[in-house]
Amino acid sequence: MDNILDRSHLESLLQHEEQLFHKNHPKSYELYQRARKSLHGGVPMLWMIRWAGSFPVFVKEAKGVHFTDVDGSEYIDLCLGDTGAMTGHSPAATVKAINEQIQKGITLMLPYEDVIWVGEELQRRFGLPYWQFALTATDANRFALRMARMVTERPKILVFNYCYHGSVDETLIVLDEEGTPMSRLNNMGPQVDPQYTTKVIEFNDIAALETALSARDVAAVLAEPVMTNIGIIHPEPGYHDALREMTRKHGTYLIIDETHTICTGPGGYTASFSLQPDFLTIGKPIAGGVPAAVYGFTEEVSQRFAEKLNVDDADVGGIGGTLAGNALSIAAMKATLQHVLTQDFYDKAIQLQERFTEGVESVIKEFDLPWIAKRLGNRSEYWFRPKPPKNGGEAFAAIDHELDRYMHLFALNRGILMTPFHNMALISAETTQEDVDYHTKVFREAVKSLFI
Ligand SMILES: Cc1ncc(COP(=O)(O)O)c(C=O)c1O
Repeated sequence: MDNILDRSHLESLLQHEEQLFHKNHPKSYELYQRARKSLHGGVPMLWMIRWAGSFPVFVKEAKGVHFTDVDGSEYIDLCLGDTGAMTGHSPAATVKAINEQIQKGITLMLPYEDVIWVGEELQRRFGLPYWQFALTATDANRFALRMARMVTERPKILVFNYCYHGSVDETLIVLDEEGTPMSRLNNMGPQVDPQYTTKVIEFNDIAALETALSARDVAAVLAEPVMTNIGIIHPEPGYHDALREMTRKHGTYLIIDETHTICTGPGGYTASFSLQPDFLTIGKPIAGGVPAAVYGFTEEVSQRFAEKLNVDDADVGGIGGTLAGNALSIAAMKATLQHVLTQDFYDKAIQLQERFTEGVESVIKEFDLPWIAKRLGNRSEYWFRPKPPKNGGEAFAAIDHELDRYMHLFALNRGILMTPFHNMALISAETTQEDVDYHTKVFREAVKSLFI
């Protein structure tokens, strides 16, 4: 069997899948045409334009890891709101808490007692003593960066090439092919060119880290402990020790963003691998899909921040959000942490994810493809390259948009939703063995169609 991809064959396969998609989604198409008259691009949020079909599927309802669209088709959801619904859609305990809280007030700008339970639980899970709330992980990152700059009185931050931490202005920077920092392609209307605010280096490059931090002008390194947004890129052995040692040596704070790596376990990668960040940020699944995010920090950060904070201006100083810490988000977070994202959840989901990854690997082996699959907890990703990339630059170079689109559309047409932008699948404790095996079957059919 020949495993060289014929591009003209791929193009005709893609056309066929596109026609099938149109044929099977007449109501979604109709709604999309109507939506275009009131919503920019026919969608409520720009990202929704980027699905594999030429228009989005409109959802009728979702529960657990399944959803139905307006045309009556059923899907297994392996995207799970790009981690926002990692718990499964509308988990029973979260829904119960929301229903109860909604009768008792939604937003007051005053605390309810439940918020203390959440703070104590976050301490227990992530090992940091003090916590603040936001509505999105983007904001949690923005606020942590502001605190770090304020406390250290340093102007810069450092991120890794092809990271993603939300729409945080300072992070939209990459290295070009010569290794020179540049504003990320299509960075929309930046207020300031991120080259002025940010240093960017490759993940897993200890020498570059030492050079970048030694100027002692970097307030904080903002890092996912395992990169997840340009595919899964694991740290090399010893990398996290070096990162921690060097940030300490040069007086730079370490902010670990666990928004996606919470797929590792109940305390994220930080707890599983005993990391010791100065700040930790997380959003997305923490309240079962209700908007909520948190950021935690050390005793030392808390004290230094308190010394510099002018409480009279706390409401207009750039860290805020009128609805942050609202009662509904807190109730949802408490229920999700207490009853849903438990050790039991991870035990089940990770075991199934192992089965999912083994399924993908068995097909890769059967067709002798130069592809690989990588896994982190209940998250897995397949790559069209033979070796795992070491950093964002290598990962970016390996992207094959056409093939990605085909694999996604093929799956979608057969009732499976993958995460857009890359070939990522999340497994929830609600996912079943049958769901996983069905994916393996469809993945195999897609591969077979490419190489016959
Ligand atoms: C690691 C990481 N941090 C932060 C964010 C931002 O999350 P949100 O868009 O909910 O603000 C994302 C979004 O994908 C992310 O992947």
